[in-house]
Amino acid sequence: MAVIDGKALAETIKLEIREEVLLLKEQRKNIPHLAAVLIGNNPASESYVKSKVRSCEHVGFESTLIRKDDSITEQELLDIVKDLNEEEDIDGFIVQLPLPKHIDEQKVTLAIDPKKDVDGFHPVNFGRMAQGLPCYLPATPFGILTMLERYKVETEGKHCVVLGRSNIVGSPMSILLSRKAYPGNCTVTLVHSRTKDLSAEIKRADIVIAAIGIPHFVTADMVKEGAVIIDVGINRVEDDSRRRGYRLVGDVEYDAVSSKASLITPVPGGVGPMTVTSLLLNTLSASKKEIYS
Ligand code: GUN
Repeated sequence: MAVIDGKALAETIKLEIREEVLLLKEQRKNIPHLAAVLIGNNPASESYVKSKVRSCEHVGFESTLIRKDDSITEQELLDIVKDLNEEEDIDGFIVQLPLPKHIDEQKVTLAIDPKKDVDGFHPVNFGRMAQGLPCYLPATPFGILTMLERYKVETEGKHCVVLGRSNIVGSPMSILLSRKAYPGNCTVTLVHSRTKDLSAEIKRADIVIAAIGIPHFVTADMVKEGAVIIDVGINRVEDDSRRRGYRLVGDVEYDAVSSKASLITPVPGGVGPMTVTSLLLNTLSASKKEIYS
C-alpha cells in the first residue's frame, strides 16, 4: 500500500503557482486577486476560509475576506455578490457554503458571474464541464483529478465507484471520470443513500471516491484488494484527548482499508489541501482570462 500525500503535492503545486506569480510581478502583469465571503461562524467554514486566505498569501495572490454575521439578509448578500461581480480588481470569488437557512443558496450561486465563479458551482460552469468545454472545475473534483494524474494512476477502462451525489463533489466527479480524457475513461457507478446493496457496488470498484459525509463508512470488507481509495470526508468526531475536543476522520476506515488498498489518501492531509490548491489554480486562470475574456 502507498499513500497519496495530498499535503506534499499541494505544497509542490503552490510553489509552482508562486513562481508564476513572481513572473507576473516581474512583467508588471495583473496579480491574481481572490475574494471570499464568509457568513456566520460555522467552525468548519471558518477553518476552510482561513486556509484559503492563508494559501493566497503564501503564493503571492491578493485576497479579500468579507465577513458578515448570520443576521445578514438574502438581499444584502446578493448586493455583495453584485459588487464583487462588478469589482474589476477582483478576478474571482467564492461564497462559502453552507449559508444560514434563511438564505437560498441556489439563488446566491446563480447571482455569481460565471466568469468569476472560481468554485465552478454556477450552472454555466457545471454545464460547460459536463460538455467538456473550458470552464472552472469545482475545486474538490479538480484536486482529485490532479492527484490521480500526478500519481500516474491508470484510469482508462477502470471501474470507479463514486459515493455521494452532491453538486460539489459526487455528481461532478462522476462526470469528470467518465470523460474521454486522462484522468477519465472510467466506467463510473454513482452510489448514494438509496442504492441497494451499496457494499456489493463498492466491492467491484478499482477506484473508490468516498464523498458521503459519514465517518468511517467504508470498511475493509467493502473494498476490493488493490483498489485505489480517495477519501473526501472531513468529519469532526469528539475526542477529549485532543486540546480542541475533536479530531478529523474521513469517510473511510483508514487503518483497516489501507491494508487492502494499493493507494489511499489520508485524512487529514489528503484531498483537503488539494481542494485549496485547485481554487488557487482557478483564480490564476481567471486572472489570465484563460476561460472567459
Ligand atoms: N463548502 C464546502 N466546500 C466548499 C467549497 O469548495 N466552496 C464553497 N464556497 N463552499 C464550500
